[in-house]
Formats: sequence, structure tokens, C-alpha cells
Amino acid sequence: MKHRKAAHGKTQATVLAGEHVGGTLEVPGDKSISHRVAILSALASGNSKIIGYLQCEDCVNTLRGLEQFGAESIIDEEGDLVISGTGGRFHEAHEGLDLGNSGTGIRLLAGIAAGLPFGTKLFGDDSLSKRPMRRVCDPLEKMGATVTWHGEPGFPPMSIRGGDLQGIDYTLPVASAQVKSCLLLATLFAEGMTTLHEPRATRDHTERLMRVLQIPVEVENLTVRCPGYGDDFPELEPQEWYVPGDFSSAAFWMVAVAATEGRTAVLQNVGLNGRRTALLNVLRRMGADVEVEQVSDPADVEPYGDVKIKGAALKGTTVKGREIPNLIDELPLVAVLGALAEGETTIADARELRVKESDRIATMVRNLKHLSVDVEEREDGMVVRGPANLTPCGVIDSHGDHRIAMAMAILALYCSEPVTIRGIACTETSYPGFWYDLHHMGAQVEF
Ligand code: S3P
Repeated sequence: MKHRKAAHGKTQATVLAGEHVGGTLEVPGDKSISHRVAILSALASGNSKIIGYLQCEDCVNTLRGLEQFGAESIIDEEGDLVISGTGGRFHEAHEGLDLGNSGTGIRLLAGIAAGLPFGTKLFGDDSLSKRPMRRVCDPLEKMGATVTWHGEPGFPPMSIRGGDLQGIDYTLPVASAQVKSCLLLATLFAEGMTTLHEPRATRDHTERLMRVLQIPVEVENLTVRCPGYGDDFPELEPQEWYVPGDFSSAAFWMVAVAATEGRTAVLQNVGLNGRRTALLNVLRRMGADVEVEQVSDPADVEPYGDVKIKGAALKGTTVKGREIPNLIDELPLVAVLGALAEGETTIADARELRVKESDRIATMVRNLKHLSVDVEEREDGMVVRGPANLTPCGVIDSHGDHRIAMAMAILALYCSEPVTIRGIACTETSYPGFWYDLHHMGAQVEF
């Protein structure tokens, strides 16, 4: 594949100019949905087909984990992923599950591991080994699982031994779709009802996709209820799933054009789940012209459509509270927009950013400063004062975090001098082909 070659094995990229950035693009499949449909397909009885499965490192690690649990997968002659499910009868994963960089992979598979009557070791790379796991392990222990920490307590590597789970009534201490999804997956193996209370609404892909399998998940405001099957794991019918484009990947191209009049981007077949698209409102508030055309059937499990953005002179805004979970992965891009907009842009209530693939508050603040942006770090976010006179004055480094590498490449499109970004291989974790698409959208990039 041409786009894989573009950045494969490269350690740094220099973005030379982005004056003529814009165009039409269909981004790769949604990462969150890809993780979930793979797991649900592995739980089903028979062969499920997944059209548009995102073959990024994170999702492939989840797939390898499911294979270790006994699910099989192939790419069929149409290029789609086919998973042959286990009907919920997973094997012991003797080598343990290496989830690489994937927080979603480790937390969702922790939910499965908790349902199984044997121990499963879960681990990953250095970044994953620093990510908090008590948020999933504490409630899993309340359900009846046993967790053993192999290194620092609270962090991977860890082993989870399950079986004989009971449903729980539990208030999530953090707004996290990963935690909610982990507990919903564990619930399938539990006796009785699980009731989860979210502090704020988070992405609801798991609930939507489970309902397709006739799992009776009910949602009422911030409460999610699901009955467990205990020892009577049902025959879940295999499906043909369609994974729309990833809104979080499309967001890079929205921001690439948003701050310059005359730039336009059209992102086709992008996921429009309302719990993911808060960035569109932020862009509108800041002054960009955003049009959305839903092309999927309104009854579709995951809505998708085309998003057209026209750039404009932007003004600062505040992003906080309820909006945060619905643009959590786009916050580095909000910081980029802040550097380009007139006035102050404030990100607040976003402490969660400190425990993502990197401390995204610290890494963005450092990188913005290295492009001479006026930015103030706050415990739960930052304040950016723009528009910046972007001038490289330090090393831009991804700190191994895919979204930091890509957000900084987008900011580089607005800089009149070449900007070099170090540590770019990490973009493979969520967006294989990013550097090719950057080129496709009109940027000049050298490796
Ligand atoms: C994800 C949920 C979010 C997000 C992550 C993917 C998911 O994490 O940041 O990239 O697929 O459930 P939290 O739910 O922990 O905030």
C-alpha cells in the first residue's frame, strides 16, 4: 500500500508548507468502533464480517488478543475482516495479552478477562504501563474478579482471574467510555443486573453495538443498565458490521483548513455519533463554516455522513464541562485552534488528558511553546492566547503520542517556516496513512 510506505520506519517529518491545503478525503475506519465490533464478533457464534475495520496497531493488538482467546480472523477476498467467534467460550491465553499502546484494548479486554474462569495477564508498552487501571480493576473486583499487579500496583502488567461474577450498581469516578465498556462486557458473564452511573455522558458505541446483538442494554440519562447471562451465555448472532470513518481522524483535516479563509475540506463517510462530534460546535463557535450532511439511514446503528468545513478568521472560545468527554481526543486540536484564533482559548475540566498516551496537557504546552505560542498550563487544561506568530524555537516531539504528532503536524501547516516533528512512527497506532493523507491534502512533507 502506497501510504504505508510514506512514513514506514521514519522517525521524523518536516512539514514545509500548507498554503494550498484542502480537498476531499475519506479517512480510515473508526478506532473505537473497530475495537468493539471485533470483541463482539469474537463473542458471537459464527462468522462476522467487518467492513472498514481500522487496521491500525491498536486495533490489531486487540485482534491478536482475541485470537489468543480462541477467536480466529482472516481478511476475505473483498479485503474485509472476518472473525469467527467463540460463542463466549474463550480459551486460556497462555502467553498473556500484549496490548501495545492501546488503552481501549487493555481496558475492554480486562472486562472479558474478568468473565473467564482462569487468569489472564494483560500488559503493553512503556506508555501503557503508566496508565491507570484501578478505574477498571476496582469495579471488576467488586463484581468478583481477582486482580494481581505484577509491577507498580494500579498499573499494567496485571493479571485478572474471573468467573462467578455478580452484577453491580456502580458510579463511575471518572467519565470514561473505556471503563463503562469494560464493565458492560464483564456484565455479560455475570449473574444479575449491572447498573452504571456516568458522571458525564461518554461515547456510547458499546451500548449501540450490543443492542444490535439483542443484548438488552438500557440507557436513561446518565444511567446504563444491562442484565448478565451468568453461566447461560447466549448464542449471539454473527453480523455484517460497517465501520464509518473515524471522526477523530477527520478532525485533523477540519482543523487544517478551519483557520484560513479560502481553505475548504470535505470529509466523507465520517462517523457522526453525537457523543463524538462536539468539535463541530467548537469550530462553529470559533467562526468556521461547518456543514454536515448525514448520508446514513437515520436508523443505522452508527450514523455517518459528510462534513464540509470552510476556513475563516477564528476567535477564541472556552471548552469545558459536558463537552469534554465528547471531544476528549480532539483537545490537542482545540489547543492548535487556540494558537490560531484571536483572543483566549481555554480548555478546562480536562484533567483526564494527563493520563492519556502521554500527559497531553504537558506535551501540548511544551510543543506549542516551541512554536512561540503564548500558552499557560493549568492543572486541568490550558489557556492559549492567539493568534500566534508561529516561529520554531525548539524541538517539536510527539513524546510517542500519536495525537500529539498529528496535531503538531496540522499546526505546522500554518507556519511560514518548515517545522520538524520528531517521533512520528506512533501515528500508526491510530491513523495508518496519516502522512500520506497530509500529502494528499496538499502539504509538502519531507522525511
Ligand atoms: C475511547 C474512549 C476515550 C478515548 C479513547 C478511546 C474508547 O477514553 O480517549 O481514545 O474507545 O472507549 P476514556 O473513555 O477513558 O476517556
